[in-house]
Amino acid sequence: MSVNVIFGSDAGATRGVASRIAKRVQGKAIDIATATKADFENCSLLILGSPTYGAGDLQTDWELGGLDKLGAANLAGKKVALFGTGDQVSYPDSFVDAMGLLYDQVVAKGAVVVGFTDTAGYDYTASKAERDGRFVGLALDEDGESSKTEKRITAWISQLL
Ligand SMILES: Cc1cc2nc3c(=O)[nH]c(=O)nc-3n(C[C@H](O)[C@H](O)[C@H](O)COP(=O)(O)O)c2cc1C
Repeated sequence: MSVNVIFGSDAGATRGVASRIAKRVQGKAIDIATATKADFENCSLLILGSPTYGAGDLQTDWELGGLDKLGAANLAGKKVALFGTGDQVSYPDSFVDAMGLLYDQVVAKGAVVVGFTDTAGYDYTASKAERDGRFVGLALDEDGESSKTEKRITAWISQLL
């Protein structure tokens, strides 16, 4: 299996998480700022990640060109998994919202999203990344709960593979 982990990151937390995930699945971590359309297509599992900024928005590089690259890629029937970084304590009403935005984009492109997770164990009030009571991917809080990240990544990867 070949895995591409395409991420955006302002302050480095999401870059770090993307590298950890890529290492575990022997995949490649690719910054959305330099990713190409082929990076979305030429892998058997595509993993996309973004922190949430602003009022529940995607990271800047996703907004400035990243979504256009995603939009140009052929994702019909493609297996896609999502992860999001956020901060439950400071932004409880928009926790990992950006993951929900990525979800809507890839579903609209015909992708098959895998790797939904349980919201139990998190403490927030609202999230666009929650659908039917589950997160659409892996939700991580590197600001307040980084000690839980390793376990969450491990459980998620074993679910994906
Ligand atoms: C100005 C600002 C706005 C943020 N807004 C949100 C938000 O709405 N929801 C959320 O879950 N996290 C929010 N965060 C937290 C970031 O998503 C979190 O710190 C993330 O790990 C940053 O990732 P990065 O280091 O890869 O850029 C915000 C952080 C900042 C500085």
